Parts: sequence; C-alpha cells; structure tokens
Amino acid sequence: MALLTATGITKSYAGVQALKGVSLALRAGEVHALLGENGAGKSTLIKIITGAVTADAGTLTIDGAGVTHHTPSAARALGIAAVYQQPALFADLTVAENICMALEGASVWRRVDWAARVKLARELLERAGADIDPERTVATLSMPEQQIVEIAKAIGARARILILDEPTASLTEREVERLFRVIRSLRSEGAGIIYISHRLDEVAEIADRVTVLRDGQTVATREMKDVDRAELIRLMVGRDIHAIFPKRTVPVGEIVLEARGLGSRQAGIRDVSFTVRRGEIFGMAGLVGSGRTQLAETLFGLTPADRGEILLHGRAVRIATPADAIARKIGYLPEDRRQHGVVLEMAIAANTTLASLAAVSRHGLIDEAAERRVARAYVERLRVKTHSLYAEAGSLSGGNQQKVALARWLAIGPEVLILDEPTQGVDIGSKSEIHEMMVDLAAQGMAIVMISSELPEVMGMSDRIAVMHSGALAGTLTRAEATQEKLLALALGHAA
Ligand SMILES: Nc1ncnc2c1ncn2[C@@H]1O[C@H](COP(=O)(O)OP(=O)(O)OP(=O)(O)O)[C@@H](O)[C@H]1O
Ligand SMILES: [Mg+2]
Repeated sequence: MALLTATGITKSYAGVQALKGVSLALRAGEVHALLGENGAGKSTLIKIITGAVTADAGTLTIDGAGVTHHTPSAARALGIAAVYQQPALFADLTVAENICMALEGASVWRRVDWAARVKLARELLERAGADIDPERTVATLSMPEQQIVEIAKAIGARARILILDEPTASLTEREVERLFRVIRSLRSEGAGIIYISHRLDEVAEIADRVTVLRDGQTVATREMKDVDRAELIRLMVGRDIHAIFPKRTVPVGEIVLEARGLGSRQAGIRDVSFTVRRGEIFGMAGLVGSGRTQLAETLFGLTPADRGEILLHGRAVRIATPADAIARKIGYLPEDRRQHGVVLEMAIAANTTLASLAAVSRHGLIDEAAERRVARAYVERLRVKTHSLYAEAGSLSGGNQQKVALARWLAIGPEVLILDEPTQGVDIGSKSEIHEMMVDLAAQGMAIVMISSELPEVMGMSDRIAVMHSGALAGTLTRAEATQEKLLALALGHAA
C-alpha cells in the first residue's frame, strides 16, 4: 500500500491553472523524484501535500485513509515534513532556536532549557553534514547554510514523509553527498521521500522512482533504472535538448576587471588577486563557505574592501556601495534571490528594469512603453513562464523568479557581470539558454565572473577557473588544465 497518494489534484491561482489533475503515489522506503520544467507545478503539489495551499479538487490519502481539512499542523501530525524551495527561517533568531521551535511547537518552546536546545541543534546539524554554530543568528548565514538548517529541521521532525524541494540548489558536491547519506538512512528506516531537483545526475543517483509533471499534469511515473537522461528530458520538455554546454571560445580583449590584494575583514576574504578580460568567462569554484559569495559582495560594494584595490580598465576605483558598482557598469546576480534578487510584491516588468531605471525613464518618469519593451524582450528570451508582464514576481515559480532576477542585470548592459549560481533552480532547457546567452554576452565583450557549485557547469562554461578556500584564492586553472580532481584538491586546501 502506498504511504501517500495524491489523485486528480487541481489548483488554480488567479489567472493560472497550476495543476490540472496531478496524481502521485509515494511508497514507504522509496526516494521518489518529482521532475518538471520551471512552472510545471511541482512546488504547488508539494504545498498541497503539506497543507500550505488548499487544492481545488482531488484527493489525498495517507496510509490508505482519506485526508480532509488538510492544514500545516494536520500534515505535521501525520508525519509530513518539508524543506521548501526558499528557506523560510526567522532571521533574528539563532539557528538552534529556529530548529527547536519548529520541533517543539511554540508553546513548549519557552520552557526548554538552552543547553539542551543547542545540543540537539548541533546533533541535527552534524547529521545534515554541516559545521554551523547553532548559536549564530540566521541573518549571518549564507544561502546554502540556511538550506542546511532547513534540512536539519526536517530531519529532526522524524517525518515518515519527507519532502525536499530543490534542497541542493546551492550546495556543492560535498554537501550533496552528506545529504544523500542522510536520505538513504531515512529511506532504510522506512520513510518515503519526495525529491525535487533540476540536477538530473543527482536524481539518477538518489531516486528509486520518478514522476514527471508537465504543464500541471502527470506525464509518467517510472522506475528510475528504466529511464535514461534523454528520456527524462523528453518527458519533461517534450523535445530533445542537445547542447549541454554551448561554450564557444571567443577572442578575449583587454583586462576589464582586476583585483589586487583585495581583502575585507568583514567579508572574511584576504589577498585576492585576479584579472578578467573582455570576452572571458571567469569561473569561481570552492566549497560552501569558502568566500566566493563574499568576494562577489565585495566587488559589488555590499561589503566594501578594506585592503587592496579594484581596478576597472586599469584604473583603481572605489566601490563602497552597490550604487558605485552599478554606476561603473558592474552587475551582480546574487545567489539569495529573496534578499537582493527580485522584489516579490512588484510586477515582473518593474523588476526587470529596477537596476536600469534611467534607461526607461524620461524626465524622471518611467516610460511605460519602454519598460514594457525591455521586460517583454527578456521574458521571451529567457522563456519566463507567466500570463502577464504585470503579474507580481511572487506569483512566479522559483526558477522563473531566477530568470527575472537575471533579466534585471542584463538590462543594465553591464561591462562586468557577476553571476552567483546563475542557473540555480532553473530547468534544463532554460539552463542551456542561459548558458548560450552568457556565451553571446562574452562574445559582445562583456567580462563575466560566474560562481557555481556545480563542477560540470564551472568546467563547461569557464575560460579560466579560480578556486577559493577559506577566504583566499587557492589557485587559478585554465580551461585546459582544469580537471575535477584538481579543482577539488584546491577547494579542500591541498596545494596543486
Ligand atoms: N501564489 C501564486 N499566484 C499565482 N500563480 C502562482 C502562484 N504560485 C504558483 N503559481 C503559478 O503556478 C504555476 C506552477 O508553479 P510552481 O511553483 O508549482 O512550479 P514548479 O514546478 O515548482 O517550478 P520551479 O521548477 O520553477 O520551481 C506557475 O505558472 C506559477 O506561476
Ligand atoms: Mg518550485
């Protein structure tokens, strides 16, 4: 008997039918992958199972018994726990408080003693594979660290049904391996796990069965061992996708961006030196916590440097704020979409032009026709799935929000574009389109810095690859020199 079944689930949001009769059966002791393009309906289905969203029609059963009046607390009582696509932690509380509050419920929480709470949190974090101090406040955590805290929370819930919606979007291979170890042990204890990811290699490694959604409908459920990658892509996209990494080497020009002995105590980076030329894609590899994002934030003026220099076209510049960076035509797509990526309450069109207002304004007023033109061009180019340019960005699926965040920075026509996990959460078709676009931009003379936790992406797209370790550059390899082993050795702090 299935642990959980969802049958004929439908759900409409204003103007959009997200689910049109989806069915899924989860067995005890299996990892069941849920695949589909951006906007296919995966997260919506998950939210219905966790009671966060109410279905319009369809039935849910758990252990064969029908579920009615489903709410988040009813779901928890039934043993359902989920890690959502976007971490939703309390920023002002500590890691331990976040974890324990979720486990104990708000009323018990007040009485539990601190030491026990910190100890429990530490154990769960260790199990989730992270070395995070439970007494840190969540606001100080990076995106991948927050993801790991969410995972620890879910593990602590001892759920029988564990749902992971893109848990590894910003994790590197090492963290993914640790997560897989936990998933396997939960599976062997009889839990059923629903696993959503756009990384097909990962899915092939961890899943026993797979269900594919397309446009709000179930296309197929298969045993994982019976389908190959090409077949999965066909089921998801309905067509073949060939170009895995469309990298073209284009002639490189003069040095655009240079860092000389760059350091920032606040950002935890030191003595970073590198150059990026026109036409180059400069990859940044390293483990979670190695300082890649902090370096990007320093280059963009979010945490200004206190040592060394940033040079643009050979001239030292002061970049103390993001406004300084934007004025110098540096764009930055952050890994944390919610923090500085998209404004969820704002329309897609306005989000697209947010960093390039001057280009779409006349006499200080926004020229709506110009804004519409820019927004439409990017929505089409990046295949953002939406019924209207004026829909709130918050109504988009995770991957489509990522595309809007990217569009904003492309719209400023930057000379230097820093991309932190540019294809995180993006489906396989859109991913190769974003890659193609990066190559085109490089060909037009842009200098691109790309941080990515996916080694195949870094190796597939970069002309040169810098590897960070504990806040410093451990080494830089050319495309020809780079191998998975060498990159990993540098990332772990072993000399090349
Ligand atoms: N709150 C909402 N309001 C309006 N439309 C919504 C809302 N939430 C989701 N949708 C729409 O429902 C559809 C399915 O979205 P969903 O988030 O389930 O996709 P997904 O498969 O999880 O995609 P991704 O891989 O990008 O995360 C999309 O068209 C999305 O725009
Ligand atoms: Mg989603």
